[in-house]
Amino acid sequence: MQKTVNTTNSPAIHHHTPTSKPNKLSRFLKALRKVSNDICTRFVDLFRCCFSKTPKNPQGQAKIDENDRAEKLEKILQKISARKIQQYYRAHVKRVKEAPPNDYGIVSSQPYDGTKPEHIGRTYHFQIKKDGQNQKKILRVMYSPTKGPDSPMEGGFKSIDRIDKKFVRLKIVKGDSFRKEINNNDDLEGTSTVILGIAVDSDTMIARFGGDSLSDYLQNISSINPAHFENAVKDLQTLHKRNTYLIDIKLANLTYDGKNVNFIDVDNRVRIDPKKPNITKFNITLYYTTTKLLRVLIPDFFGDGSGSFSLGPKTDAEKKSYFKVSDEYAFLLAMIIATSKKDDLKRAFYGRNVGVKKNREFHGVMNNDNQSYFRNWIQAHVKPKFHSNIASILRDPYEYAQKSSNPPYLSDMLLFKGSMLKGVCRNFWVNSSM
Ligand SMILES: Nc1ncnc2c1ncn2[C@@H]1O[C@H](COP(=O)(O)OP(=O)(O)OP(=O)(O)O)[C@@H](O)[C@H]1O
Ligand SMILES: [Mg+2]
Repeated sequence: MQKTVNTTNSPAIHHHTPTSKPNKLSRFLKALRKVSNDICTRFVDLFRCCFSKTPKNPQGQAKIDENDRAEKLEKILQKISARKIQQYYRAHVKRVKEAPPNDYGIVSSQPYDGTKPEHIGRTYHFQIKKDGQNQKKILRVMYSPTKGPDSPMEGGFKSIDRIDKKFVRLKIVKGDSFRKEINNNDDLEGTSTVILGIAVDSDTMIARFGGDSLSDYLQNISSINPAHFENAVKDLQTLHKRNTYLIDIKLANLTYDGKNVNFIDVDNRVRIDPKKPNITKFNITLYYTTTKLLRVLIPDFFGDGSGSFSLGPKTDAEKKSYFKVSDEYAFLLAMIIATSKKDDLKRAFYGRNVGVKKNREFHGVMNNDNQSYFRNWIQAHVKPKFHSNIASILRDPYEYAQKSSNPPYLSDMLLFKGSMLKGVCRNFWVNSSM
């Protein structure tokens, strides 16, 4: 007959596996439990202690206690200072919200003159927005750095006159004052590599420091890791889905912060709003576009011949596919230049005339003379089923946009994990009619 076991007062003993038989230790514990639950608990505790790590000497224990106390004290101090900062910050926010913002929605502080020497002279700028209930909200806090750049940092229209590792201040050197609408950046929401500039008055803009200009960076380093373009091309897709086009993508309008390539100089981007189909003025760089693209995007271009130019407001939502490919073509060019060894590049780009010139039809950077170079790049950096798409974009982006209905986004075509398929793809090129 099977013995029944009374388990009412004694909890079950758990073995390592449900199938394992009670070992000597568990039998011993069970017996002990019968004598006294209390003694049993103590014994088990003692038993556990033997296996837990204890300091080898009493001084060690004292050290641990001391560290423990120091840690606790530090936490308390942190809490106190966090509370102080919070109180100060709340009062400060109240003051900022009470001050009337300027036409650009900005409240600016007096230059800092407090106790932190490294902050002296900084002017803080607060971008204020009214919400649905007319309540003021601080959208952004920036400051003007106090030092100038070591060497000139300028484009055709703006130039940096103050810079540090967090912010840059840009001044207009040529062209019109900043429009007030420039500070509406809703379309950039959720992107991380698009560095917007906020106009704090009619000719001053503050932007987050985006790193070294990619064109400067490449003077010293021969190429950068292609993976560092991944977030940027994803953000480009986000913008295109919102009908925003950056238009002037080029090495000089990209920065590199060691991890990511970022877009700068985005204030002249084109936003096509189906409800308000007027597009704004924009600049485009001739090296990064083609004659046919210009004919469709800027029909009156061929009257001028200058390096960059603008288009007056024009109703044109039909141009969306050309704007999209125009950005993708320019992005590809910049990425190819930045990720290639200089000698290869010379052969591909500089050996031929690249870019639009007034008296020359220029259809795209890839042609019969240099195609082998581009094929190598495509093989390494593009998913196999999109090789021909990318080749078509590089040969003639206008034609690609015209012929393809609903083409994929560039970010879905690029391959960022390195090429594991080199061997597999070789035949594709032999048979391809590109
Ligand atoms: N946020 C930033 N972070 C780092 N560098 C920047 C930033 N903004 C601008 N720069 C530097 O300043 C230069 C000029 O700025 P930006 O490109 O905005 O001026 P631009 O005159 O509008 O240019 P473009 O001639 O392309 O129209 C850039 O090429 C870059 O070197
Ligand atoms: Mg620029």
